Amino acid sequence: MHSFKMFELDGKVAVVTGAASGLGAAFAEAMAEAGADVVCGDIDSKGMGKTVAEIKKKGYKAIAVKCDVSKEDDCVRLMQKTVKTFGHLDILINNAGIVESEPKPLHECATDAWNSVLAVDLHGVFFCTREALKFMVKQKSGKIINIASIFGITGSGHLFPVPVYNAAKGAVVNLTRELGLEYAPLGINVNAICPGFFITNIGGGKSYTTEFDRMVSDFTPMGRQALPEELKGTAIFLASAASDYMCGQMIVVDGGCTAK
Ligand SMILES: NC(=O)c1ccc[n+]([C@@H]2O[C@H](COP(=O)([O-])OP(=O)(O)OC[C@H]3O[C@@H](n4cnc5c(N)ncnc54)[C@H](O)[C@@H]3O)[C@@H](O)[C@H]2O)c1
Repeated sequence: MHSFKMFELDGKVAVVTGAASGLGAAFAEAMAEAGADVVCGDIDSKGMGKTVAEIKKKGYKAIAVKCDVSKEDDCVRLMQKTVKTFGHLDILINNAGIVESEPKPLHECATDAWNSVLAVDLHGVFFCTREALKFMVKQKSGKIINIASIFGITGSGHLFPVPVYNAAKGAVVNLTRELGLEYAPLGINVNAICPGFFITNIGGGKSYTTEFDRMVSDFTPMGRQALPEELKGTAIFLASAASDYMCGQMIVVDGGCTAK
């Protein structure tokens, strides 16, 4: 196969959760630009509307399905609607995620904060993955990309304490390894991306503030935060035939943070 052809997603159908903003909107665009039909799932209908409109403006197909990934029934509906609309489901990007509203050490963490972050960042990955796998196992093919974090493989306490987020992302990292192994024989690749610092709305948009930008830019060997589109290529690689021999792996895109 020609090298460039390996990255094409023509005829594929991709579900991207958390596609209303930030990394998810970039992933949805990337899937479409590489040739896939896209289903956006998010709690934010207005944001999803913008993502879908952008994709359609470029001549590609996309729909929005309102979905709270922490709710099992919503995730069932998201995957069913995908298959009903486009006939199959080839790529799932588990991207929807939140962080504690305020960084706090664990002894100050409220039970509600613990539960609500895990509900989205971990249970959401479980619900969406299980429901997508029901279709992928039958068709004996599929690509699942979990959006973890560098804080799934290191702690963050030296910068800011977000223990619940880190617990969830750490679980997503090892779930990725486990599912990579379980589903490799069935023709389904499960891998993850561990981003470093990207400018998005997460954590109330702290990444846009000068104080946060200075702190994490000083910490990052490349000396800056990244833009969401800087992850498009990694997502296309993991969604395409170019990564067919990969499973259970994490690709870290972090401007050098974890190389230190
Ligand atoms: N921005 C970064 O620096 C960074 C770094 C590492 C990992 N990540 C991960 O990337 C993913 C995307 O985050 P982002 O930075 O683009 O943030 P973001 O806040 O811009 O986007 C998150 C999206 O998820 C949606 N969402 C939140 N709760 C949801 C729910 N219950 N159901 C469905 N959708 C829901 C939001 O509406 C939003 O559109 C997250 O999993 C995050 O942990 C981000």
